[in-house]
Amino acid sequence: MSSKKSELKITIDSAGLGRRIDELALISEAPAPVVTRVLFSEADRRGREYVRRAAREAGLALREDAVGNIFARWEGSEPGLPAVGSGSHTDAIPNAGRYDGVVGVLGAFEALAALKRAGFRPRRPLEVVMFTAEEPTRFGLGCLGSRLMAGSISVEKAQALRDREGRTLDELRTAAGCSGPLASVRLPTGYYHAFVELHIEQGPILEADGIPIGIVEHIAGPSSYRVTLHGEGGHAGAVPMPVRHDALLAGAEIALAVERAAITSGSRDTVGTVGVFRIEPGAVNSVPFKAYLEIDLRDARLDTRSKALAIIRSSAEEACARRGVRMEFEEINADPPAAGDPETVAIAESVCAELGLRSLRMVSRAYHDSLFMARVSPTTMVFIPCRNGWSHRPEEYASPEHIAWGAEVLAHTLARLAT
Ligand code: GLV
Ligand code: MN
Ligand code: MN
Repeated sequence: MSSKKSELKITIDSAGLGRRIDELALISEAPAPVVTRVLFSEADRRGREYVRRAAREAGLALREDAVGNIFARWEGSEPGLPAVGSGSHTDAIPNAGRYDGVVGVLGAFEALAALKRAGFRPRRPLEVVMFTAEEPTRFGLGCLGSRLMAGSISVEKAQALRDREGRTLDELRTAAGCSGPLASVRLPTGYYHAFVELHIEQGPILEADGIPIGIVEHIAGPSSYRVTLHGEGGHAGAVPMPVRHDALLAGAEIALAVERAAITSGSRDTVGTVGVFRIEPGAVNSVPFKAYLEIDLRDARLDTRSKALAIIRSSAEEACARRGVRMEFEEINADPPAAGDPETVAIAESVCAELGLRSLRMVSRAYHDSLFMARVSPTTMVFIPCRNGWSHRPEEYASPEHIAWGAEVLAHTLARLAT
């Protein structure tokens, strides 16, 4: 039995959803309009409390796992069926905006609340997830919660993670009140019938084309690397240029090689960034003896990503040899791209057509928890435009109208899947 749009009158409470997004934005480590909520910080913990309250207000039943993933559930009428999942994250990188991730969590609560108001009764359970640490800020590794749920990281590797202060995941999750073995986070096979994540696009395409909804067919594969460079320090006035082993300059060459490799890979989806670059001792009159870089390299294709990585590595080795700098080059993660499920994509697309909303099939160059949900469930994502494509900065903005349309498309798509 299909739930056609005509049978279901969905009214999204746009003002209420906007208010909740604004309230959550005020829970931040930095003053407004900046949103910073790093995993297991005080702000992240208060953010989680806000999410629990919002879930209860939407009439959903709560459960949490050992890494702090929060599940908010509406039981279906037929016991034992796999759930239809939705959700996203509420952690935020330093100096972020208020919509990344949040629209997919609070928007999913509103979608379910709207379905309840419309009198819909799901046959399958509907479940909203707030995933722990989609952002890599604390441990250098993104999608920690969904990665563990999908079994895409071993418990040993997760336990070996350290933050900058040397604290482990076990220490931090226990302090945050999470209990139970990490192994229990992994989802049983077939747990989700389908998964749909609502998110801002974080790029400029929908806005530029005047299209309100994107439907994700493919998520690019992210990879990241840490590079530690050991040079030789000394007095900035006294050490002559020809005998220097400046760790920063070797790092600078590597950063430029990342840019060059991404541009020349042969795929326009290759993107490379050095987003972390620290030097020691960091004094104006001292030659840097140590540099630490983190490289983010992504692509919708694995062959061109590998080609770019090979260029980066060989350029880095050459620069370090020439400069007499010792290099440690370590992979943090190298995840394959994920394909959206054609049937789930088609359902979301037909929902848009029935609502009279134009939609566009898209590649997501940003990663999302859906990258990992796609490994264990038929998955797609619903994108909405954001102003100028801005994201990961405080100016991030999505209009109430687009957010409401996104939540409405999500509600109808979830209804179809749960019927
Ligand atoms: C997620 O925030 C990403 O970096 O793509
Ligand atoms: Mn993000
Ligand atoms: Mn996000």
